[in-house]
Amino acid sequence: MYQLNLAELSVAEFLNQYWQKKPLLIKGGFKHFVDPLTADELAGLATEEEIESRIVSCVDKQWDMQTGPFEDFSEFGDKGWTLLVQAVDHWHPLAAKLLDPFRFIPNWRIDDLMVSFSTPGGGVGPHLDQYDVFIIQGEGKRHWRVGMPDSNLQQLCPHPRLLQVSPFVDCIDVITEPGDILYIPPGCPHDGISVENSLNYSVGFRAPAQKDLLTGLADHLIDNDISGQRFSDAKRSAATSVGRIDETDLNQIQQLLQQLVADRNQLPHWFGNLITRAKHELDLNEPDPHYGEDEIAEYIDEGSVLSRTGGLRCCYYQQHNDSDLLLFINGDQITLPPDELLTAQLLCDNTELAAAENRHFISSAQRLLLLTNLINQGYWYFSE
Ligand code: SIN
Ligand code: CO
Repeated sequence: MYQLNLAELSVAEFLNQYWQKKPLLIKGGFKHFVDPLTADELAGLATEEEIESRIVSCVDKQWDMQTGPFEDFSEFGDKGWTLLVQAVDHWHPLAAKLLDPFRFIPNWRIDDLMVSFSTPGGGVGPHLDQYDVFIIQGEGKRHWRVGMPDSNLQQLCPHPRLLQVSPFVDCIDVITEPGDILYIPPGCPHDGISVENSLNYSVGFRAPAQKDLLTGLADHLIDNDISGQRFSDAKRSAATSVGRIDETDLNQIQQLLQQLVADRNQLPHWFGNLITRAKHELDLNEPDPHYGEDEIAEYIDEGSVLSRTGGLRCCYYQQHNDSDLLLFINGDQITLPPDELLTAQLLCDNTELAAAENRHFISSAQRLLLLTNLINQGYWYFSE
């Protein structure tokens, strides 16, 4: 539905020249852009307990930040504030479609769609993000400045819950209009101040830190009751100072850890589980009562379309053509036989499955059972 127009750049050129390297303004990235939601709808989402939202305001140079849910916006007046709603793709199927044009980056790297509504003068102040982001200008206009990473920038904390940076030199200075897109790599300072009431859509990415990865590995060891090898020291010589932890011991500890991390066989299992876990609540609609396989087959026979629940994270891994397929859905692993690649691809590479594609699932009892289970968990639903 949304067609990304990188002007004179191909996707390969964009990745080569800009991705994780330097910011880019994509003027008219979406031609004739139509907002998938209205400011009122966004405000509606911000009234919900399970949806993460915040309002950042600046009045007379005094910054403030409040977290939602919000019932009433009148106390904020008509200028100098921004409402930011996280993971809107989980709750608004039309808005979720804004992620699709960026799916030349694999699912596991895509995080969520954050949507902001800013009144004139509103913004979150100059800051850095740790992740890549595409910021799409919807309704309205916003004055954006973006700079290159600069180690001389100082962190400022104008409010206990707001992290900003000192003034920066910009390489992009633009008033964005509907359909314009800014690509901002991690660590590039940026500042967007609304010129008029304005909607912005931020397609954010995930980049796990070493801490996150070790947490994923540790969870895997705990869940599967794997202790691994234990420290051993058959070649020990007598200690000269019993209070000391010496280099030899530390080297052995390091080796023990490295052996664990180097286990390539376990890596896809724990990484797949870790990276498909949802960070924000999902809008799962578990059917009640559950469907039987025969009912699912009937719907598919009638030409029904299936949609994947917004924000559901799905990935697969297959080492060789003849090895089992690991299907990861929402932090769980399902193992499929080696020849089920198409099944994994249909589920993971598409957010919507057309009638013809669905027929694949009724051509085998195992596939139909798999799909029935996924629908009964609320992960996929019949949308047409
Ligand atoms: C916003 O939409 O106001 C914030 C986007 C960002 O700077 O990351
Ligand atoms: Co930002």
